[in-house]
Amino acid sequence: MKQIQMTNTPSFSLISTKKIIQMNDVSTSYDSKNFALDHINLSIDRGTNYAIVGQSGSGKSTLLKLMNGMMIPSNGTIKIDYMTPNMNEKKFKKMMHTIGYIPQNLGLVKNLTVLENVIIGCLPRLSKIQSMFKKFPENEVSEAKKIIKQVGLSGKEDRKAYMLSGGEKRRVAIARALMQKPKILLADEIVSELDHVTAREIMDLIADAQKRINLTAIMVHHDMQLALEYANRVAVIKEGNKVLEIGVEGDKIVDFQTGNMTTEEIMEMYSDDTKK
Ligand SMILES: Nc1ncnc2c1ncn2[C@@H]1O[C@H](COP(=O)(O)OP(=O)(O)O)[C@@H](O)[C@H]1O
Ligand SMILES: [Mg+2]
Repeated sequence: MKQIQMTNTPSFSLISTKKIIQMNDVSTSYDSKNFALDHINLSIDRGTNYAIVGQSGSGKSTLLKLMNGMMIPSNGTIKIDYMTPNMNEKKFKKMMHTIGYIPQNLGLVKNLTVLENVIIGCLPRLSKIQSMFKKFPENEVSEAKKIIKQVGLSGKEDRKAYMLSGGEKRRVAIARALMQKPKILLADEIVSELDHVTAREIMDLIADAQKRINLTAIMVHHDMQLALEYANRVAVIKEGNKVLEIGVEGDKIVDFQTGNMTTEEIMEMYSDDTKK
């Protein structure tokens, strides 16, 4: 493996574009006793490829659920594209439709075809009548076909989701999210169960989409090596705390958090995760 040196830099962001996610001292819990996330501070620039890495149960999925408004913090503040998540507010609900969320189980309807699964992504844009009767306008059907081609599934439009391979299912889930015309893509361990080659194909697909549209991708990963390879920033979560925020610059890992861990501890964590 390539030798990577550690350096510390000040904790300000080097990219000065608009912030799309801001979390300030956020804590949240599922029960009254334990915090699933504890005093998280996090700031993500628009267009970033952001990775969240950590052991099982550390709070990664909970963090994504806060970012799509499925969960509300018990303490602290969160802004998603400068809006406080509030499902009772029309403006927030509208913005929510531009967050493509891919859960760990992908959320595909297995008895529907590739095209039918993908076109679901445009439902929020349709009128109530159109969406009730699933009456998809011609322009949306051609948009879905265009996106299916972009994700490399041309010719498989009519195949049922349950017949697809693991990699193909992930392509459908990405296509459905892209059909939403998303500003933010949240993906929970989308490549964790894939072999290395297929995982990279899926990561390249997301990187390609990021080049085409101004998309912020926030992805939970199991593999630190893969995260560092693709992401501008990697947040490391441990027991509900963000212990580190790192990125690769040239041949160095830069610690943007100037955190509470020593270089040795960071490197230990890095090598541990690459073994998985
Ligand atoms: N629905 C839930 N009810 C109660 N506790 C939960 C629930 N979901 C997650 N937790 C707890 O919150 C913590 C963080 O979980 P999670 O965010 O799913 O971790 P990760 O995605 O990193 O594996 C864990 O201790 C987990 O047991
Ligand atoms: Mg999880």
